Amino acid sequence: MNYRKYALLAVVLLFSVSAYAQKFEGLAETPAMGWNSWNKFAGNITEDLIKGVADAIVESGLRDAGYIYVNLDDCWHGERDSLGFIQCDPVRFPSGIKALADYMHERGLKLGIYSDAGWKTCAGRPGSVGHEFQDALQYAKWGVDYLKYDWCDTPNINAKGAYKLMSEALRAAGRPIYFSMCEWGTARPWEWASEIAHSWRTTGDIWHCFDCGRGEKPNYAHSVMAILDMQEGLRKYAGPGHWNDPDMLEVGNGLSESEDRAHFTMWCMLAASLILGNDVRDMPQAIKEVIMNKEVIAIDQDKEGIQGLRFMRTDDGLEFWFKPLVNGEWAFCILNRATEDRTYDIDWQNFNLYDDVAKRFTDFDSKTYKIRNLWTKKDDGDTKKSRVVTIPAHDVLLYRLTPTKK
Ligand code: GLA
Repeated sequence: MNYRKYALLAVVLLFSVSAYAQKFEGLAETPAMGWNSWNKFAGNITEDLIKGVADAIVESGLRDAGYIYVNLDDCWHGERDSLGFIQCDPVRFPSGIKALADYMHERGLKLGIYSDAGWKTCAGRPGSVGHEFQDALQYAKWGVDYLKYDWCDTPNINAKGAYKLMSEALRAAGRPIYFSMCEWGTARPWEWASEIAHSWRTTGDIWHCFDCGRGEKPNYAHSVMAILDMQEGLRKYAGPGHWNDPDMLEVGNGLSESEDRAHFTMWCMLAASLILGNDVRDMPQAIKEVIMNKEVIAIDQDKEGIQGLRFMRTDDGLEFWFKPLVNGEWAFCILNRATEDRTYDIDWQNFNLYDDVAKRFTDFDSKTYKIRNLWTKKDDGDTKKSRVVTIPAHDVLLYRLTPTKK
């Protein structure tokens, strides 16, 4: 072989190695939307429950609103077979995972599955360590579309190495599978995971309380507001294809109607994955109106893919958030964390800011924006004049601001 042939071979090899090491692209241009079994059902999952959830997602209109992933969390597992291939629990999932994936695909949905980088999952089922390539092959063979990969029972395992290995295993198995890292933010995955995964958990588990403290939730878990605070400083790491994941939604799991609205809104402002965690087979109208508000979902799913920023907070519990959107638009949100209603005089001139992630000014001094209130679903004047607004306790005000044509 002459020199040119060697050079060509080297280029081809380099190409295939680098292609092999990268995650599948194009699976998460906007944050993932779907449902997961854990927040409501924990380990009590069966094939009938999951099928019922899928039916409800279709019938309620959730699928058409964008919620397409139906994700099994912990406890679907049975044992490994004699060759080491993982099997599902034959009692809970008698028809098998392939049949469940087919059920989803026939209905325009996708199936997600769960594993763990260690020896045992958090609920004590078999983890994937030492079986990464086999597990990825099995998921691909079954027609799985999404893998949540947890971090329990991983003493002496290096996080980056473990997640890269599973990412490579998925890649090698050949089926495009969304890779959702659930490492709880311990090893700062936002700094290294964008080539490996489509999203990474930034915190420990969410709990279904808005702002509770010690004693009102397990020690390992965090309130909705605590998780919100833990996103500080992370927005520059997120973007199309690689997202910060502040954990799954607790909307419909016991918060008040205002709190549900505020929680959902803040997750949209964060460009978070919108993975529902409630029992969608039995939803009050008020919950549907929160999770199916298309104009609010559009803030989360905006193609620009920029996570929102907390611009200002007041001592009496108000926070002011902006999220840059396509075509020079912005989402503007006031979150009231106080336990009483608050009235605020919005003077837009106090909100002339420069966003160094979007590299864009709001320019309220030189631009006028039309205002659309996304929760009342009404156009509401423009930003020429100041206005007085009241935000109920644990609630939000959410506007879409559209620049008027000169
Ligand atoms: C961890 C994860 C949760 C859930 C449970 C399942 O706590 O962070 O989201 O998957 O494990 O056991």
